[in-house]
Amino acid sequence: MTPTQRTWLVSDAPFNPGKIYHTETIYTIGNGYMGLRGTFEEGYPNQMVSTLTHGFFNHEKSELVPDLVNLPNPLHFLVEVDGETFSMQTPKIQMLGYKRTLDLKRGVLTREVLWRNQTGNVVKLSFERFAHLGIDHLLVQRVTVRAVLGNPEIKVTAGIDGSQTNEGIDHWAKVEPAHEATTTISVTGTTSQSNYVAAVASALHSDKGTLSYQALDAKTPALISAFTLTEGEAATFVKFSAIHTSRDDADPTAAARGTLINAAASGYDKLLADHEAAWAAYWNDSGIEIEGDEVAQRALRFCTYHVLIAAPRNSERASIGAKTLSGPGYKGHVFWDTELFMVPLLTLTQPKLARNLLMYRYHNLQGARNKAKANNYEGAMFPWESTDTGEETTPSWSHPLPDGTRIRIWTGDSEQHISTDVAYAVLQYWQWTGDEEFFLNQGAEIVLDTAVFWGSRVEYNKDEDRYEISQQIGPDEYHENVNNSAFTNSMVRWHLRQAIEVRDWLIQMHPERATALLGQLKVDETRIHQWRTIIDKMYIPFDKEQGIYEQFDGFFKLKPMSLEHWSPRWANMDWIMGHEETQGYQFIKQADIVMMMALLGEETGSIETRKANWNYYYPLVDHGSSLSPSTHAWVASRLGLSAEAYDMFIYAGSIDLEDLKGNVRDGIHAAASGGVWESVIWGFAGLSLGASGFQFDPKLPAHWKSVKFRFYYKGKQHTATLTQDS
Ligand code: BGC
Repeated sequence: MTPTQRTWLVSDAPFNPGKIYHTETIYTIGNGYMGLRGTFEEGYPNQMVSTLTHGFFNHEKSELVPDLVNLPNPLHFLVEVDGETFSMQTPKIQMLGYKRTLDLKRGVLTREVLWRNQTGNVVKLSFERFAHLGIDHLLVQRVTVRAVLGNPEIKVTAGIDGSQTNEGIDHWAKVEPAHEATTTISVTGTTSQSNYVAAVASALHSDKGTLSYQALDAKTPALISAFTLTEGEAATFVKFSAIHTSRDDADPTAAARGTLINAAASGYDKLLADHEAAWAAYWNDSGIEIEGDEVAQRALRFCTYHVLIAAPRNSERASIGAKTLSGPGYKGHVFWDTELFMVPLLTLTQPKLARNLLMYRYHNLQGARNKAKANNYEGAMFPWESTDTGEETTPSWSHPLPDGTRIRIWTGDSEQHISTDVAYAVLQYWQWTGDEEFFLNQGAEIVLDTAVFWGSRVEYNKDEDRYEISQQIGPDEYHENVNNSAFTNSMVRWHLRQAIEVRDWLIQMHPERATALLGQLKVDETRIHQWRTIIDKMYIPFDKEQGIYEQFDGFFKLKPMSLEHWSPRWANMDWIMGHEETQGYQFIKQADIVMMMALLGEETGSIETRKANWNYYYPLVDHGSSLSPSTHAWVASRLGLSAEAYDMFIYAGSIDLEDLKGNVRDGIHAAASGGVWESVIWGFAGLSLGASGFQFDPKLPAHWKSVKFRFYYKGKQHTATLTQDS
């Protein structure tokens, strides 16, 4: 492989059945509308077929919370050779060769197999698929069957498998297969609670054989073609599939058929060329080029690819779940992961996509207001886990453990910092893009109404004459319902300061809008006075003698235990010690004080103070969340700790590629992916906004010759090339 191939291609060969879940996830393709795991067309025992589209949730009665629903599977494609169906399960004597490759540059997944059937004929099968970047609803597959030895009789069967569930949970009230002669097949399904309708339709094109229709079972319509190949001859099939749902179209089945007609009119070559051009544009804007480090380069491209394929291009009503559209993890729910780990990449490189994601929060403000009201607060309190309704959808209990007990999940009640995280992303977007139209009409409302929430949330401690916040979960979820999380309290103080500035700006620059919005949200002089007092008197636990923040009240009194000798280990400390026990220790799940230092930078103290805090907290962190290493890389880099920064960066970039956490089966760790981009941009490149615009403070890893990237600042695209001497 050339260096270019090494850094753009992710492949595996020979086939390793032990890794199917890992590879299925990392080979996910998508286009911001749909995401399909890299499962095999012909099926494989226990593979997790998954076809997801944003926002298509259903709350099945048996479940605690809604799921992102697994749609009918359009990838289905069987090849029979002399009556024997090709399968990856056949013994080595038949599986002569295999290679699967995800081309990150073009967003195309391919698989090549050299296969001998039991009669001794050898065929080469080439499978290719892409979710068209530019035509949201279109999936394209191409399958070539070549007779390498012998003159085999071939039969191909291209279906839509409407029997999909979410790992056994059936979300469908109705699944209706249909076909129009041999032109199209379709499966239209209606969900049991949300009453959403999804239609998946396919058409098959080939110059070989004649098509016929067959229902493989009650939920699987298929198109079939049978023919003979002579040695050396090949037949190619193109299968177009369209996915439409009632979230975007009044008649999804008709819309899906329409997409297929348009695809056929364009033809495969043009569709592929347009798709590749769209990817070239994506990489031009969002790619980072590293000279001198192929491992880092590939990891960075892989991570960026996964954020890009998940980001909705044409919808303001959907956001990216913690596991993107690549697996069932967290049921497709949206967390702070999006705003703090994925949106920044998009804000600087694909501002329109960042705006879509922030608009999702805007459209869901009602859910946030409902949550605040239900808890007797004012303003908008965003849910910790969000779906299509914007209401809180965090389950309150875990599924039963092996001993039958269930764990109370407190994050939906107590991980309240999300309201500030959303505001942070809105302000960051505004500062970088200068998108005044958005900020004026939507962004300011988010920032202000979440500030209103905090104003009503803080508690005044009369004895100490200070404001406190009790019953919180900071980023470190190993410690629940703590009082005065330094992260949360600092972020809230920062948030209220910003809110006052936003209010002043509105009054000065847009008096009419100010009157309307401030009136609507009841942000009057009394409230501003209250916010100022809170800012002045907000309590943030800090040990003056040591110069160290106390992560929350009482953290220093917990049992210390060095993690030094606890490796290697795959399990997180809370799994090893038990959920309750862990609360008594000074282990930290993920960047917490370090997260605060990342987001608030110099505001959290001098470089000496920040280093002292790093030295205290770094040895305690378990990286029990994939969000942790990239934030550590970013902060270490800013503190000039280059060895730690590079270690953490490679750790973050390998989480999915190498399945470091052993749970990639559930889906891509999207925040880790976005975080890798952040660790390069905010960390190594030291890009930030100062009083007079953007500035750099590069601290590149010693072996990097250069790093090059593009970003938008106030509507204009800039190119940065940083070297060791920059
Ligand atoms: C992390 C959270 C994160 C969630 C979803 C949890 O394990 O602790 O910070 O939001 O996963 O990725």
